Amino acid sequence: MSEYILDLKKITKSFSGVEVLHEVSFSLRPGEVHALLGENGAGKSTLMKVITGVHHPDGGEIHLNGAPVHFSDTRESQQAGIAAIYQELSLFPDLDVAENIFIGRQPVTLGGRIDWRKLYAEADKLLASLGVHLELKQKARTLSIAQQQMVEIARAFSINARILIMDEPTSSLTLKEATDLFHLVRRLRDEGAAIIFISHRLEELFELADRVTVLRDGAYVDTRQMKDVTRDDLIRMMVGRTIKNLFPKQDVKAGKVVLKVDHLTRDGAFRDISFDLRQPLQWSFQCLFSDVDMFGVL
Ligand SMILES: Nc1ncnc2c1ncn2[C@@H]1O[C@H](COP(=O)(O)OP(=O)(O)OP(=O)(O)O)[C@@H](O)[C@H]1O
Ligand SMILES: [Mg+2]
Repeated sequence: MSEYILDLKKITKSFSGVEVLHEVSFSLRPGEVHALLGENGAGKSTLMKVITGVHHPDGGEIHLNGAPVHFSDTRESQQAGIAAIYQELSLFPDLDVAENIFIGRQPVTLGGRIDWRKLYAEADKLLASLGVHLELKQKARTLSIAQQQMVEIARAFSINARILIMDEPTSSLTLKEATDLFHLVRRLRDEGAAIIFISHRLEELFELADRVTVLRDGAYVDTRQMKDVTRDDLIRMMVGRTIKNLFPKQDVKAGKVVLKVDHLTRDGAFRDISFDLRQPLQWSFQCLFSDVDMFGVL
């Protein structure tokens, strides 16, 4: 029996002749939170979609509990115990919390009708077991993003998912909501679920993840224990070079104002922003960027 619940071996994937994953390997243990890290476009979401059967790999193998699998679509991967929660959430806005959890799998009475009493009782039991507080009859359209995520997670666990993929789940959450989510993720991990967690926020990965795998330009870089790496190590793995000196701190005296922003507002985006931008008194472009290869970064 493999120590891995999921084992990807040398996965390759191209879109219209452009290779976006090149022989990527990734292994997941039960009871771990495994961070997947890489710059924008590194191939993280594509790799997750290969796991869930949205995309089909051009090369390589996927092993689930030690046996090779080929998923034609997400229904098949779900049946095998893999659930994914993406940034774009997929609840039915006019159905309530309980209905969304059991969508397509509502309990029925002997007469073939939906057994509403059982549906609400089961939903209640499930949310209680996850430690999630939600109003069962609240319509999905009135839930916050964080609450919608909780419903999706509950749905995943109602189908006995043993692998949960979370692709940038915190990008539109407040700090408090993210903290609640981490609490739930840890709880699921402690019960033996395996969680793949994608985020660009390194601090939260240090808080949450047990291991980390880094991708760069569609290629596997390394897998490390989170406790054995530093922030700088991760950045170096992601971009392939050290960037800590990209903007070296220089002592400069502020000169004249070159840009003034005064009470700028754009409805729905930002409100009442004011600041001044000053030129350094002794302006020297060469000095600012002297010890880095800017063009290598750009
Ligand atoms: N369906 C598709 N058709 C064509 N190209 C695609 C498709 N999906 C992804 N790509 C390309 O594959 C590459 C990897 O994209 P992917 O979305 O996997 O990156 P990512 O690591 O998830 O990035 P981000 O951090 O921005 O979410 C990108 O160059 C992207 O443009
Ligand atoms: Mg992505």
